[in-house]
Amino acid sequence: MPVDNRPPAKKMKFSPGGGFTNGVPVFQKLQQIRRNLPIFSAKRKLIEELRRLDTAIVIGETGSGKTTQLPQYIFEERLHKNMIIAITQPRRVAAITVAQRVAQERGSEPGHVVGHCVRFEDMTSEKTRIKYMTDGMLLREAILDPLLKRYSFVILDEAHERTIHTDVLFGVVKQAQKRRKLRNLLPLKIIIMSATMDVDHFSQFFNKAPVLYLEGRQFPVQVYYSREPQSDYVFAAVVALFQIHREEPADQDVLIFLTGQEEIDSVVRSIHEIAKGMVGDAPPLVVWPLYAALPSHLQLKAFNPAPKGTRKVIVATNIAETSITIHGISFVIDTGVVKAKIFTPRSGLDLLKVVKLSKAQALQRSGRAGREAAGTCYRLYTEEEFQHFPDNTIPEIQRCNLSSVALQLLAMGITDIVNFDFMDKPSTESLIGAVHQLHTLGAVIKENTIKLTATGKRMAAFPLDPKLSKTLLIALELHCLEEVLTIVSMLSVDSVLFTPQRKREEALAVRQKFVSSDGDHITLLNIYKAYKGVKGNKEWCHENFINGRNMSKAMDVRKQLRQICDSQTLAVKSCGQDTSIIRRCLAAGLFMNAAELQREGDVYISLTTREPVHIHPSSALFRCKPACVVYNELVKTSKCYMRDLSVVDPDWLYEAAPAYFKRKKPSKK
Ligand code: CDP
Ligand code: MG
Repeated sequence: MPVDNRPPAKKMKFSPGGGFTNGVPVFQKLQQIRRNLPIFSAKRKLIEELRRLDTAIVIGETGSGKTTQLPQYIFEERLHKNMIIAITQPRRVAAITVAQRVAQERGSEPGHVVGHCVRFEDMTSEKTRIKYMTDGMLLREAILDPLLKRYSFVILDEAHERTIHTDVLFGVVKQAQKRRKLRNLLPLKIIIMSATMDVDHFSQFFNKAPVLYLEGRQFPVQVYYSREPQSDYVFAAVVALFQIHREEPADQDVLIFLTGQEEIDSVVRSIHEIAKGMVGDAPPLVVWPLYAALPSHLQLKAFNPAPKGTRKVIVATNIAETSITIHGISFVIDTGVVKAKIFTPRSGLDLLKVVKLSKAQALQRSGRAGREAAGTCYRLYTEEEFQHFPDNTIPEIQRCNLSSVALQLLAMGITDIVNFDFMDKPSTESLIGAVHQLHTLGAVIKENTIKLTATGKRMAAFPLDPKLSKTLLIALELHCLEEVLTIVSMLSVDSVLFTPQRKREEALAVRQKFVSSDGDHITLLNIYKAYKGVKGNKEWCHENFINGRNMSKAMDVRKQLRQICDSQTLAVKSCGQDTSIIRRCLAAGLFMNAAELQREGDVYISLTTREPVHIHPSSALFRCKPACVVYNELVKTSKCYMRDLSVVDPDWLYEAAPAYFKRKKPSKK
């Protein structure tokens, strides 16, 4: 790859808050930073427009100040009429970190005027007026209050990401706005915020709403393509990094886009090792991973400037594409791939899979190199390959399982799902498939219209995948809700197992005492019980290679799910030591995710699709190969892997859903 020798670019770097910087109080320093953001010069005009308009579309480059500033402007100018301003984010991390940042900018405590609300974590109070929340949370609130009466403004941020929840919200807020107007209630103002994409489309959907463009601060980015197609993008990324590292000034930082946690951790390790063995005068390197599942104190490291004379390298998932701004990046290495949820219509299930980017995404990624000065982007694919990328990413709603969304729409009283006002309609087939899945789970009945059953109503109260909500309700009947609540909570947080690569064997050996031959669900239950037994002792977590932070989150989740059970007067009973009851219950909730071992070899066949699937190496059952299992999730890398499994009796599956297995009765061996 050719590299020219430009002089080091001039840069601004801001240090994070905490006390004083250069004798200037942090608060004042932050006000100065606020005034220097591109959006500031448009403040007057924006306020004027927002006073006048009911709906507006605000477009601006990443980093221009949309997410942090616009809600504050509305608040400062009292446009919100002392009601709440909601700002949705597709990602939890973004909602949490942005809320913290804005609270700091206002010199107030998090959770007071500025708060956040994400699934299982509500940091808001009576005082909260600027509320950052995930799009999923606002959608849940709409179930209880379809008119969103607490809000005077709803800002749907990062709209270009087109997550399934944001897409449904487009229709929900549009309807709420209309109905509030019809009833002469206080108007609901809608703002759609996006990086530069899809503008006409948004405007059309919102009755030709005006588009307000913010002047960006984008410096030119020189883009280089790989001359040859790369068969191993991970390897190519490491090679490209060291090419830059040897030739470029040390204060120019590098951002590498990869697809997921495991890949990123392994690349970070390789970089460390190669850097250690380097001779000559290359500057020192600091390398930080950045992905959603990373504990937040580690995420924050990626934002800190590197010491002088040291190059910072950030190895990130798509999270760094638009929702998070990192200073000092001069080089972007774009592998051209992303992990995405893909719907498999035949099974009705979602699959996590590595796919090619869209052109629009590639543009966003390269843009990250030119935030503060001219930069460079290395694309690890050829220009010809790029030409074959789709122009835009297909919205999630057109490629994901819709059963959860269908359940929520029904719970909001929207029964004609097929004719719901979607910006981009999912296929009728997938909508019908979703309703069919809910029907199979006993959540709906189909008469003239589709209606929620009592079970369906109960299911909708839980912020969970419908299969897991159903599992809880079966646990109620089988008197093991105590245990199943725990299992579902443990499945709702990031992994509680902490397995450092270098101490892998030791970690597995120490945790062996928790491992159950019944599978991962019972193993998780054992861990939870042991953790509770020692009252969450930190040393115990450390000794047993358990992630204490995620354990305490699981406790929290459990408390909240328990409250929902109590509010619905569901009796939380225990089955004692009888784990077969629990597995029976899992079988009855997860029967759509079942697989059986083939006679020859170690391959499993999915009972739904009849396609081969494998036990994930991290599973407690990896070496056991039971005859029949249910699982929570399928992940596709080189093969299709089942994650979080339990051993079940094929008869239980059949008993749970005879109609479903009518033509495909699991064979008993
Ligand atoms: O939404 P948009 O991408 O337009 O910008 P923003 O998220 O409001 O960010 C504006 C500025 O605030 C950027 O320069 C960020 O680096 C900074 N910021 C920060 O320092 N810490 C955060 N947690 C969020 C934003
Ligand atoms: Mg933003």
